[in-house]
Amino acid sequence: MDERVAGFFNDQAADYHASADESDIGRMGMGGYHVRTAAAIKAQIAGRVLCVGGLWSRMNPEVLGSCEVTVVDLSADMLSHYQELGVELMVGDARSLAVGDNTFDHVVFPLVLHHITDQSGVVARSNVRRALAEARRVLKPGGRIWISEFSVSRPVYAAEILLAPVTSRALGLKGIPLVVMHHADFYQKSLREQGFGDIALKPIQATRASPFDLIQPVIGLPMLRVPRFMYPVTPVLITARSEPPAAR
Ligand SMILES: C[S@@+](CC[C@H](N)C(=O)[O-])C[C@H]1O[C@@H](n2cnc3c(N)ncnc32)[C@H](O)[C@@H]1O
Repeated sequence: MDERVAGFFNDQAADYHASADESDIGRMGMGGYHVRTAAAIKAQIAGRVLCVGGLWSRMNPEVLGSCEVTVVDLSADMLSHYQELGVELMVGDARSLAVGDNTFDHVVFPLVLHHITDQSGVVARSNVRRALAEARRVLKPGGRIWISEFSVSRPVYAAEILLAPVTSRALGLKGIPLVVMHHADFYQKSLREQGFGDIALKPIQATRASPFDLIQPVIGLPMLRVPRFMYPVTPVLITARSEPPAAR
């Protein structure tokens, strides 16, 4: 369990959830993307759902539909905001889930995988693989995984990994853990390696998002704002099916 990340999100929980204005822009500038992502997931899931790293839509009970939802998060304070939705809550780590094998119809990773870094670009990549392997273990054969993420271009990804030691130190001065946004191909390759097939990736468009909206790119730095066109990420929704053993 990463106490540093848990402590950071415990401190940020009230502000983070207060910014859950799921209008087109939202306080952090990504509201429209969250709404679209939530709608795309909701349209395609049912049954038992494990949501790792908080819910895929903040405080909007309608997106849960008739699903039976369990939410896992490192941060008890982030989790507490979902209490009134009547979902099952569990403090835990995406890399080692305290749930049995073959339990869920769907596993959702909503904006969490870029936070599991252990302060290193290289370890961030192996952590993603570990989290996907856990998802594969707890999914029923044929179950689906959903990854809502910010994807970056290859040059940005290379720079992120190379500069991770410096970025980690700089963010550390403000008590902010390192984040690493991965390239979409990395997620797709890792999914295949972990026994997933039928992989699909959809860029998420938010119709009223302007290139000149002021975005808050870093959780924990509310004063830092950049125009959207300078923030080099593409919101994507990736889904894949856990291949039944016979197909592997
Ligand atoms: C950016 S927030 C996303 C919250 C919510 N899913 C959303 O879409 O608004 C990232 C969340 O991931 C959680 N988190 C970070 N590392 C984690 C890990 N290793 N295992 C489980 N949750 C983790 C944090 O505590 C935080 O609640």
